[in-house]
Amino acid sequence: MKRYKKGQQVYSLNRGWRFVEKDISVLPPTKQHDDVYGFSKAGAYRGPADANYDDADWEIVNLPHDWVTKHDFVEEGSPNQGYKERGIGWYRMRFELAEEDRNKQILLEFEGMSCDSQIYVNGSILKHNYSGYNSFCVDMTDMANFGVIPNTLAIRIDASAWEGWWYEGAGIYRNVWLVKKSEVHLAHDGIFIKSELEGNSTWKVHVSAEIENSFEYEHTVEVITCLYDQEDNLAGEAALTGKDILHGYETATVTGEIYVNNPILWSVKQPYLYKAVTKLYKENDCIDVVEENIGFRTISIDAKDGFWLNGENIKLLGFCNHQDHAGIGVAVPYSIKEYRISLLQDLGANAYRCAHNPDPEILDICDELGVMVMVENRTYSSSEETLREVEGIVRQSRNHPCVILYSVFNEEPLQGTHKGRRMAGALQAVVRRVDDTRPVLGAFNGGYMEEEGASTILDVTGINYNPGRYDEFHKKYPDTPLIGTETASAFMVRGEYVTDYSKNLINSYDDECALWGNTISEAWKMVVERPFVAGAFVWTGFDYRGEPTPFTWPSVGTFFGTYDSCGFEKDACYFYKAYWKQEPIVHIISPWSEGHEKGTQIRVKVVTNCEEVALLVNGRVIDRKLADPINHVEFTASYEEGEVKAIGYRNGEIVANDYQLTAEKPARLEVSLSKETLVTDGFDAVAVNVTLIDQNGTAIPNADHTLTFEVGNGTILGVGNGDPNSHEDDVTNKRKLFHGKAQAIIAPIDKGSVVVKVSANELDLQTEVMIPVKEVESFSYVEPVEERVIDNWRMYYQLFDEMPNPNPKVDKNDMNSFEPIAFNGAPQTQLTDQLHKYALYRCVANLGEAKENRYLYISDIKGYAWIYLNGELLASRTDSFGGHMIIDLPKEVKGNQVLTIIIHNENEEWPQAGICSPVVMKEL
Ligand code: GAL
Repeated sequence: MKRYKKGQQVYSLNRGWRFVEKDISVLPPTKQHDDVYGFSKAGAYRGPADANYDDADWEIVNLPHDWVTKHDFVEEGSPNQGYKERGIGWYRMRFELAEEDRNKQILLEFEGMSCDSQIYVNGSILKHNYSGYNSFCVDMTDMANFGVIPNTLAIRIDASAWEGWWYEGAGIYRNVWLVKKSEVHLAHDGIFIKSELEGNSTWKVHVSAEIENSFEYEHTVEVITCLYDQEDNLAGEAALTGKDILHGYETATVTGEIYVNNPILWSVKQPYLYKAVTKLYKENDCIDVVEENIGFRTISIDAKDGFWLNGENIKLLGFCNHQDHAGIGVAVPYSIKEYRISLLQDLGANAYRCAHNPDPEILDICDELGVMVMVENRTYSSSEETLREVEGIVRQSRNHPCVILYSVFNEEPLQGTHKGRRMAGALQAVVRRVDDTRPVLGAFNGGYMEEEGASTILDVTGINYNPGRYDEFHKKYPDTPLIGTETASAFMVRGEYVTDYSKNLINSYDDECALWGNTISEAWKMVVERPFVAGAFVWTGFDYRGEPTPFTWPSVGTFFGTYDSCGFEKDACYFYKAYWKQEPIVHIISPWSEGHEKGTQIRVKVVTNCEEVALLVNGRVIDRKLADPINHVEFTASYEEGEVKAIGYRNGEIVANDYQLTAEKPARLEVSLSKETLVTDGFDAVAVNVTLIDQNGTAIPNADHTLTFEVGNGTILGVGNGDPNSHEDDVTNKRKLFHGKAQAIIAPIDKGSVVVKVSANELDLQTEVMIPVKEVESFSYVEPVEERVIDNWRMYYQLFDEMPNPNPKVDKNDMNSFEPIAFNGAPQTQLTDQLHKYALYRCVANLGEAKENRYLYISDIKGYAWIYLNGELLASRTDSFGGHMIIDLPKEVKGNQVLTIIIHNENEEWPQAGICSPVVMKEL
């Protein structure tokens, strides 16, 4: 995620989490009064939510993390989830906040977790989020610990159920941020910048900013928004008005207007972005700043001519996509998302549908690349929870110029009913309240003709499949704009030219599609011939895990993708290039390179946007035909070793060609990279694409040799080959080639170079690539605290004149003799000026598994001190006024134990005493 910029106090929480895949109770060990009473209070959740919980044997993981990728494929798993089982897992992270953060608002921002998640901070549950797709913020200000006492963030994720019918992964699969804000600040996602063209060239930019005071004191503030172009020239500014004094805990919205003449417009061809910098000042000091990309562009959609961008009528040429990628599941690094979207642009796509869920990183990428986005929410409901989710999705999306549409549902059984209409109305109202600049639609698979259904209340109707009903809909609702929100669902397996249902394989000629779908050609024909259909979102750009239609086990991924799950081209890519690009395209679909018996009749389909195509075998023209712009052109050629070539003509002139050669024996491993240089920002990764080729550069068509990847200064996040029927491991350094290709996704570790050595041992071939890694300014990472803090101390309510019994009997019902106490830097005030008195502290601590070489460490303890374990003296100090103490723990101690500390105030010069720092357990 790149939207956070310098100057703000934003820290990445992506590194060093502890993770375990099992469920653990947060309830106390018994149902006895003391446990129940204690548990019923703030900060009292137990188990992993408790600071004392021992997670030393949990795995250490970095984000994004999808724990399902490491699972095996199992036949009893769900086909929808790609035959990998999900379940319940816990994550923990312990981190410190500085003393000077005490007067700040402390937010945790989660971009997405799969699925149902409960977030505990220092023993209190602060959020239960039900969806695996929405981003949300948790305000931990009131529960935060500062200084030496670490914070315990514990997250339980329950992915045993499912929200979708596709692979959803499990875990914290997107970024997590820690955001520190001044006591009065700009609210999270609270800035809305809306530009409106007035006349021919003047834009009126409405700015509104929500400001919040999270503390009790009144502040006088000023908010200023400035717009900058890409050369950092000021394009306009406004002081926002409406409120300048914020009382304690008050929130308000301030607004202003900026006029900009002749800005450079954001468009698909030139996605020009301006920077909007909103600063909040208190007494001339800038105490908060939010920097966002914005763009100037107009959009509209009508029922006659479809979609308009900046006054130009253009068709939406889009792909629907799920989130996962080969090898890494849904934990997809930013740069791999960038790569995937640019691959779609290579086909001429100008639009993207986040199906069936939103993703904030996609919006940043599409702003930059010039791709228009349909943002979709997951749950169809008007429950309070869903409306809140949708509000969050829209707040997150509304400043992005790439966002052109909001979809409030996909294929909902209630879509054509009265209930469905009510829900659509409620969702649309929420969208409009937060952002009134984009149309709202639903993606219907029926019910759109019903007057009592949702299509009569939404701005736009999206129809999934069924292109035969576009005309009927248009006739009945001539004023309702229409989009093919899902089209095609055509099947293809990369590199296959024979359909074999017994092997779960489908050829690449565009012969087959889902029962409810259409071939690529049929689907496009229905859209391109109808100006009133604003565009098409093809199902799908990439193969994804799960939903292996039309097969089940052993198929574990889909066949719908235009690219396979690695992003390797299927022949399907060329259909879209031919339809969507102006430049001449000629592409041969045939198994020529596989080699056949001489004279075998080979089906050769030539996908093209040229008018005529000639087919040549070894230089001899065997036929020349007119090509159909939708269905292209087909030949049958008698095989002979060598070259088949297609030449495309426009106006009788040769404008393009393509050829295939019979493959010879494997000669080399060829490597191509998704990017040539990496950076150390922590969000980067590269797809290393490997093809086995012969001496002429022809890919060896059916090669399935195993590749081994050895990496220096990089981590293999996952491997893949695009085979929807493969059950090989994802997270490993080995992968078989599938039709000659395989891929590893690799993240850099440090600056310098990532060195990748790829070997095909069976062939005795290897190659090596070096990918430079540049050091760049990056986010600060929150460093996890590894030591265990022994928490939950209590102090006896009064002081003693004599040395007290170190093992007092504590009645289980006694909630009042000991008061909870935290050690946070200062001696306890109860002992101040209480010369010669004794204080008693007690705690029941979980000391975890028995281990050698463990000790307790107290960095600052003042006064004489005696430390006991279950009433037995472990250590004492009676000869100093203060300092640290190290207390060896017997190696056999484990589990819950009673620790007692007695402090004696014997400091006549400065009569203070107590435990000033947390008691931590460490290992040698
Ligand atoms: C649609 C659905 C998609 C996917 C697709 C497969 O009905 O919206 O999520 O399942 O069919 O063809």
